[in-house]
Amino acid sequence: MAASDVIRESWATRIGFILAAVGSAVGLGNVWRFPFQVGQEGGAAFLFIYLAFIVVIGFPAMLVEFAIGRNTKRNPVGALRAFGGKGWEYVGGIFLVIGFVLLAFYSVVAGWVLRYFFASFTGAYTADPGAYFAQISVGWDAVFFHALFMLSVIAIVAIGIQRGIELAAKVMVPAIFFILAGLSVYAFTLGGAGEAYAYYLSPDFAEIAANWQSVLPAAAGQALFTLSLGMGVMITYASYIDEDRNLIEDGTAIISFDVAIAFVVGLVVFPIIFTAGVDPADPGPGAVFISLAGAFTEIGFGWLLGAIFFGTFFLAALTSAISIIEVIVSYAIDEHGIDRRVATTVVGSIIFLLGIPTALDPVLFGLYDQLAAEVLLVLGTLFIMILVGWIAAPRAKAELAEGLEQPDRLTDVWIWLVRVPVVVVLLVSLYLAVLGFGEFLRTELVPWFEIR
Ligand code: TRP
Repeated sequence: MAASDVIRESWATRIGFILAAVGSAVGLGNVWRFPFQVGQEGGAAFLFIYLAFIVVIGFPAMLVEFAIGRNTKRNPVGALRAFGGKGWEYVGGIFLVIGFVLLAFYSVVAGWVLRYFFASFTGAYTADPGAYFAQISVGWDAVFFHALFMLSVIAIVAIGIQRGIELAAKVMVPAIFFILAGLSVYAFTLGGAGEAYAYYLSPDFAEIAANWQSVLPAAAGQALFTLSLGMGVMITYASYIDEDRNLIEDGTAIISFDVAIAFVVGLVVFPIIFTAGVDPADPGPGAVFISLAGAFTEIGFGWLLGAIFFGTFFLAALTSAISIIEVIVSYAIDEHGIDRRVATTVVGSIIFLLGIPTALDPVLFGLYDQLAAEVLLVLGTLFIMILVGWIAAPRAKAELAEGLEQPDRLTDVWIWLVRVPVVVVLLVSLYLAVLGFGEFLRTELVPWFEIR
């Protein structure tokens, strides 16, 4: 019996699939990366393009991954082979590489979150939130917490209990949302709120026109990152669906939760940053950590709220990380018959090693982050859009149609979107991202080597 003939599990409950997909999507991308990107790319101009890309690229691309996964019921490598033919398994191979790069630095950030969870009890970040972030985010301390995070991921995935995560998502996502919503009310009362809302919410189109070469790839990368697209996570999760659900409805629900959380984070972070009189581009990857630590210091029972917030945030990062490593592990199990524990331990250890440089040096951290989000995820998505739009359109259309009430119009619009506009936008973004990445290498990495 071939490995792929093994009867696969499917989601335990009807909403199990949605919860797991939301658990994957909601993570550091919403709470940490989103405000950091908004700050870096000039505020509302970025928000505007980002939201447009969620609808125009993210939504159709998510349906593509769902259709491939549900149709083939395989891990991404096997799925692409089954869907497109032999050569396409190499694209699945690219997904695996992306998983390694992505989780390596993701885990470092998740380590920061864990550190903040503990610091909420001791009050370590209260004296000087900015200095605290600078101190804990780089160096062997950061490596230590990165190790703790990877150990948690390995432990859960090795035992194979991640379906228990369906439950975690049920509690976690609402908890994060309500804490953030509460904090946004607090943020509203701050002196800098008005200025912050103008910065965050009212796009200046002249600014978009002036900066589109960096805003476009940043927004495309963030849209894919936050929705867990471009490396086969949603293919894997959809491969466990056995009934014919309405995938358009499911996708809408998943995306709405995800975008809502990111949006509220901005309503919290920017008023705090403006009230402190800081340029929103300055805190960089520290934006959410520094501003929330400041808020938890100011308000009553802030330490408790901080502990609850960073605790749930840690769980959110965990469910996302699990979805990334699961792509690689399920490949090793399905295609090579490797034991789950062995596969998880080996893969997790390699990822830990790959992440160490990013915990020791902010330039290398930036390198991994930009490479993964703006180049690799866009490339991965582009490939499968070409597969579904141009090569296997009838099969994809028939698959999406299952479970829809009025399939014809919707599936036609979808294939048309995938075939032309999505591919064009991704190509332009990828081109700009490669240029931007070359620039990054020249301005950051070359001097980096010269100094060392
Ligand atoms: N979407 C997750 C977040 O926002 C991260 C993530 C999980 C991811 N799986 C992914 C990103 C696959 C890209 C691809 O934190």
